[in-house]
Amino acid sequence: MARPKVELHLHLEGAAPPAFIRGLGREKKIDISGIFTPEGGYAYRDFEHFLSVYDTACTVLIGPEEFHRLVHAVLEESAANGVVYSETFLSPDFCGGCDLGAWREYLAAIREAAEQAETQHGITLRGIVTCIRHLGPEQAKKAAICAAETAGDWLVGFGMGGAENMGEQKDFAWAFDAAREAGLRLTTHAGEWRGPDEVRAAVRDLGVERVGHGVRAAEDPALVEELAEAGITLECCPGSNVFLGVYDRLEDHPIDELRRAGVNVTVSTDDPPFFHTTMRREYAALARCFNWDADVFDAVTKTALDAAFCDTATRDRIA
Ligand code: HPA
Ligand code: ZN
Repeated sequence: MARPKVELHLHLEGAAPPAFIRGLGREKKIDISGIFTPEGGYAYRDFEHFLSVYDTACTVLIGPEEFHRLVHAVLEESAANGVVYSETFLSPDFCGGCDLGAWREYLAAIREAAEQAETQHGITLRGIVTCIRHLGPEQAKKAAICAAETAGDWLVGFGMGGAENMGEQKDFAWAFDAAREAGLRLTTHAGEWRGPDEVRAAVRDLGVERVGHGVRAAEDPALVEELAEAGITLECCPGSNVFLGVYDRLEDHPIDELRRAGVNVTVSTDDPPFFHTTMRREYAALARCFNWDADVFDAVTKTALDAAFCDTATRDRIA
């Protein structure tokens, strides 16, 4: 039996199986054939184009019912990969355009499907609302208000994804402050496309306790020490980084170096079908490349559990 896995960084729409999205396109009579390869995978050239293909894929997710079906498809796949706990980015921008009333309906559908999947597959989902950096700070405020109004023991965090090269982390401080005041825990994508200073800015200007990717912190030994000391957790997604060309090969990825330096590293898939990965493949590749054994994987899983945003009762149930 596969070891139970804990995943902290998964974009709900980005986890949509391409066949599911293609099927919805046919059903809704929306022509999205341009985003698929002849083999049926997602087709894109680079990160910018990935974001655009992602947007197009989301055009068929037209209402709460489609998200309900999406959650079932995604959690079935995660559970089949041995994932028992999945912290998943949910986007009010894709769920009704950050309208609070619409968001509540989408969220109810997502939560209902997640609870059904928990009964069926034994996987627990907790939500992190994500704002989208390239839509700008004003739109991020709207996402933060959606998050704050629905915060609780199920919607547990707030974060930011999107194009890291747009604007600065501090431009989004209002959104992160509002989320923090509502009791949400915080993470932001940083240090994937920009270097160590971006990771510094994430911690300093937004006060996040986790960083999405964060791996380019490895370029600055002083920062690595600071992250280790402060107990900041990195949501590393090695397969994503290699597929998108942040690193040429997994051998060049700093996850093991960061771990050895005492940084809290965890393993996630990001947008698995886009990057041709799964949690099982990530684990197998790390074992092969860095000789990670059962003890290392157990330690990484414990790190992920400790850094999870859920309440302690949920954590104790999973552990
Ligand atoms: N990176 C940044 N933003 C995103 C991603 C990602 O992998 N997926 C969806 N939004
Ligand atoms: Zn991501």
